[in-house]
Parts: sequence; C-alpha cells; structure tokens
Amino acid sequence: MPTICLIPGDGIGQEVIPAARRLLEATDLDLTFVEAEAGWATFQRTGTSVPADTLTKVTSSDATLAGAFTSPSHQVEGHQGAIRYMRRTLDLFSNLRPARSRPLPNSIPGIDMLMVRENTEGLYVEKERRYGDLAIADAVVTRRASQRIARVAMEQARKRKGRVAVIHKANVLPLTSGLFLETVMAVAREEYPDVEAYDVIVDAAAMRLVRDPGSFDVLVSTNLFGDILSDLMAGLTGGLGVAPSANVGERYAIFEPVHGSAPDIAGHGVANPTAMFLTAAMMLDHMGEAEVSRRIEAAIDVVLANGPLTRDLGGDASTEQFTDAVIAAYTAA
Ligand code: NAI
Ligand code: MG
Repeated sequence: MPTICLIPGDGIGQEVIPAARRLLEATDLDLTFVEAEAGWATFQRTGTSVPADTLTKVTSSDATLAGAFTSPSHQVEGHQGAIRYMRRTLDLFSNLRPARSRPLPNSIPGIDMLMVRENTEGLYVEKERRYGDLAIADAVVTRRASQRIARVAMEQARKRKGRVAVIHKANVLPLTSGLFLETVMAVAREEYPDVEAYDVIVDAAAMRLVRDPGSFDVLVSTNLFGDILSDLMAGLTGGLGVAPSANVGERYAIFEPVHGSAPDIAGHGVANPTAMFLTAAMMLDHMGEAEVSRRIEAAIDVVLANGPLTRDLGGDASTEQFTDAVIAAYTAA
C-alpha cells in the first residue's frame, strides 16, 4: 500500500492539499497518508522551515505532495525557503512543468508543451553578498547538472514530439549560460540524435511563447529562466490556478503546483485546486498509476468546460464546491 506524504505548507496550501486528499480518497487506490509540516509558519514557530522529521517522512514515503510555501522578500536571519531547501537537500534536480490548453475561455488552443527546469543551481544557489550599496549574487552552472537535466529533457521529448528548445542567454553570459548551452547541445548530438535540439535566447523565447506557443514541445533551461517562463506558460493556458509541477530526482520526488501561497486569497476557501489536482495526477503517473491519472485529468477538463468555476476563472465556486464537482465527474466517468 503506497504512502503519500502531504505537506500543506502556507497560505492556500492549507486549502488545496485537503482538497487533493479528498480527490485521492475518492479513487479506488489503496493509499496511506502521512502529514508533515514545512514553510514560513513552521519557521516562525520552530526556527526551521523544514524540520528533520519532515525530511524523514518525505524520504520514507513513496511520493510527496506539497501545497505552497511563503518566502519573505527580504532577508531573514536563519531562514531558508522550504521548497528550495528540499529540492537541494533531496537532489530533486529536475522540475517538470507541463502547460496544456484547457477548455477555458482564457486558455489559448493548440498548446502542449513542457518546461524542464534545472532545479538545484543557477542563481538559485542563494549565494548573495551585500556591501552597502553594492550587492552581488553568484550563479552556479556545472557540466554534471547540465548533462543530467539535458537527459531528462531529451527523454521527455522522445515521449512527445521529439523537439527540445534550449533556453539560454549565452550571448551575455558566455561562461555560465554558455556552459549550459554547450553541454545540453552536446548531450543531444552525442546521445539523442533522434531528438531535434535547437537554441533560443531567453528574451526571444518569451516573445515566441506569447506569439506562437503551439510551436514549442519541450523547453529546457536553467533555474531562473525556467521559473519565469513557466509562469508565462501557465498564463497562456488559464493561469496559476491550473499549472502543475513535479520536482524529481534519482530517488525522491516532490509534487507541488507552480503557484505560491497566494496570501491575497488565503483563508477564504476560494483557491482553485485544479493545479493541485493536476499535480496529484502527475504524481500518480510517476507512481505507475497512469490510468487513474488520466481519469483525474479528464474529470478536471469536464468541470472546467461545464463549471462550476472558481473566482480566478471567472466563476464563484468555492474550493469545496469545485472539488465536489471534480469528484462527481471522476466517479461518473
Ligand atoms: P502566488 O502564486 O502565490 O500568487 C500570484 C497570484 O495568483 C495571486 O493573485 C493569487 O491569488 C493567484 N493565485 C495563485 N494560485 C492560485 C490558485 N490556486 N487559485 C486562485 N488564484 C491563485 O505568487 P506570489 O503572490 O508572487 O507569492 C506569494 C508567496 O508565495 C510568496 O511568499 C512567494 O515566495 C511564495 N511562492 C511560493 C512558491 C512555491 O511554494 N513553490 C512559488 C511561488 C511563490
Ligand atoms: Mg515561480
């Protein structure tokens, strides 16, 4: 019987994780759940954003589903962002962020793409220094991390349309972004001759994603560019309320929606749980439950097409009403 670790975290994480648990319990899968805590509220109470007990629960479960974690936009002594800490500590080196057209008025048709974001280095090593009015951040790029993220992107492309856009800024950062570009292209050439890899400079990629999103299949990028562009990709397909993601390493995986803790709506019971549900579907697929995963996704599309919708999508359904509708559609299918 597989064990799922649930980490609600902060803000709307506390609302969408219980909704996902209800949906998972409505499937006929025999799952056991353990709850763990992490995030900003945990830090404020205990002085650490990811307690040791949480890491133990994650590493001893079959998969982990996380909600969202608040990070303040100023430096706080001793605080490390919970999700970034877990990504690095558990070596969850790939962040998979699919964007697919949904049956929604604000979703552009013809989109089916996947961001493969390097998840452990780049500017997200969080090595910053401040000298009065001067501040410096380090960006780390290694051949090893670039190679392994390249292989993930190529393997994903083989299961899709066989095309990988390598996103970079090597024209301005020839040493860091250049090493990433050179390494990914070499992996494509030497190990995946059947995959078509081509490079796109990040700013041009932003424009092409808006103008011609249907032309993309897999995108692979360093941490910061992948973070930014994946929100843009979410925006093309219905917004952050419908964007799932997976943090996957060799041994462990943590599944979390792209969105954050949404302090502007947290506590009102109106968060859209779709992103969390699609994330749970990615988790089940990863666990070998492809059929249940596909059924969940189909049930979500039925409700997105027919309503009721949550506020972010122009409706007035609560998180709970939307969840009821998805469970009903799942059960009816
Ligand atoms: P956010 O994703 O929390 O919210 C951006 C906007 O989208 C807000 O207007 C919010 O109401 C809306 N939104 C997001 N998810 C929604 C949902 N499921 N249903 C309906 N509306 C939704 O990003 P923001 O405001 O920039 O960050 C808030 C906090 O979240 C910050 O502390 C940030 O550090 C953290 N964050 C955490 C992430 C993570 O845990 N992986 C990712 C992004 C931000
Ligand atoms: Mg982000």
